Amino acid sequence: MLWYPYTQMRQVSELPKMVSGEGVTMHLEDGRSLIDGISSWWAVIHGYNHPVLNAALLTQANKFAHVMLGGMTHNPALDLAAKLVSITPAGLNHVFFSDSGSIGVEVALKMAIQYWKNIGYSGKSKIISLRNGYHGDTFKAMEVSDDSDFTRAFSDVLTRGFILDIPTGGFDADAAQVKEATDALEALLQQEHQNIAAFIVEPIVQCAGGFNIYSPLYLKAARDLCTKYNVLFVFDEVATGFGRTGKLFAAEHAGVTPDIMILGKAMTAGYMGHAATLATTAVFDSFLGDNYEKALMHGPTFMANPLACAVALQSITLIEEENYLQKIARIQAIIREQFDTFSTPAIVAKRTIGALGAIEMKDAACLSGFKEFSQQKGVWLRPIGNVLYLMPPYIITEKELLTILQVMKEWIQQIK
Ligand SMILES: Cc1ncc(COP(=O)(O)O)c(C=O)c1O
Repeated sequence: MLWYPYTQMRQVSELPKMVSGEGVTMHLEDGRSLIDGISSWWAVIHGYNHPVLNAALLTQANKFAHVMLGGMTHNPALDLAAKLVSITPAGLNHVFFSDSGSIGVEVALKMAIQYWKNIGYSGKSKIISLRNGYHGDTFKAMEVSDDSDFTRAFSDVLTRGFILDIPTGGFDADAAQVKEATDALEALLQQEHQNIAAFIVEPIVQCAGGFNIYSPLYLKAARDLCTKYNVLFVFDEVATGFGRTGKLFAAEHAGVTPDIMILGKAMTAGYMGHAATLATTAVFDSFLGDNYEKALMHGPTFMANPLACAVALQSITLIEEENYLQKIARIQAIIREQFDTFSTPAIVAKRTIGALGAIEMKDAACLSGFKEFSQQKGVWLRPIGNVLYLMPPYIITEKELLTILQVMKEWIQQIK
């Protein structure tokens, strides 16, 4: 029997069964069709069954589908690494591939902790992270994620580091709001920096933890503080990377380069799991030596899978050649325009950035029954807790986007 994710299996009823996809539409076995409002966990940015991505996949499959990266190399891996270096913030010059966002985070934290050892520091192994942060489901990723339904069963075995609040005030917070949060960071760094390897954040938007948006000023200030106190700054762009926040990478809102950055999800456009952990030359160089002692001892079987690399390269080409950032700006404008017309006392906050919109409701009960309602209306959306959100594929038409927003509105407006 198939075991489903984040699911109380005793409560599983019959699930919609997808048999094919086209554009933003998922076709089901029972003849119904659903518009995907969340890009299959934020990955399927070009929609389903994209002919150009299919062709890239088949072309590579006809050469070789996989080869180990240990002791062997290949062009899809070399080309994708070079491409990622050229499009990410300047200074991230080295790329380590792995098979999922969570593993990309594990690799980043291993890099950060070993970096300090390699350059002769001892004891710098703790990690700072942010309240409501989410970085994946493997153990170290859970340790740097905030305590939540995702981690609770393991709270007695997780070794926690330090946790800080994001600044209040959203993207446009004023200097005073940001200062409160940066003062807290500086106070912690002053006291504990000799024990701290890294500060990990989801830059600009915390996704699974409730779609909380915060100011780029915080990232700028935190960048300076991390440098001042000898702590690596790590950006987890697994959810925000490849355009979701309106810039190709969320780091660009702040104009800073982290020491380590993790990409996943949309990198392979939903075709297969893959992730990349990028590092600066300073981090990379610390791993150089005459033996394995200083090397990065990590190597997932499917790292740099040629099919994944070929699709990722083609996906980036589409983003660049078909001016996706303009499409995303248009999606943002439509979401904002429509959200302005949503009004009920049950709404606590509306948050939008790029191709992402989230409505925080006063409690999760407000959204009970929503999934079934939206499916009846031909739309695929899955609230997280008390937050109803959309993160559509970037190829969505205005009509399809308005259909999703109308379904959200219909539900929200009838809540007393
Ligand atoms: C910010 C962030 N980091 C890491 C992950 C984990 O990625 P994966 O599910 O590919 O392991 C996620 C998944 O939602 C995420 O949102």
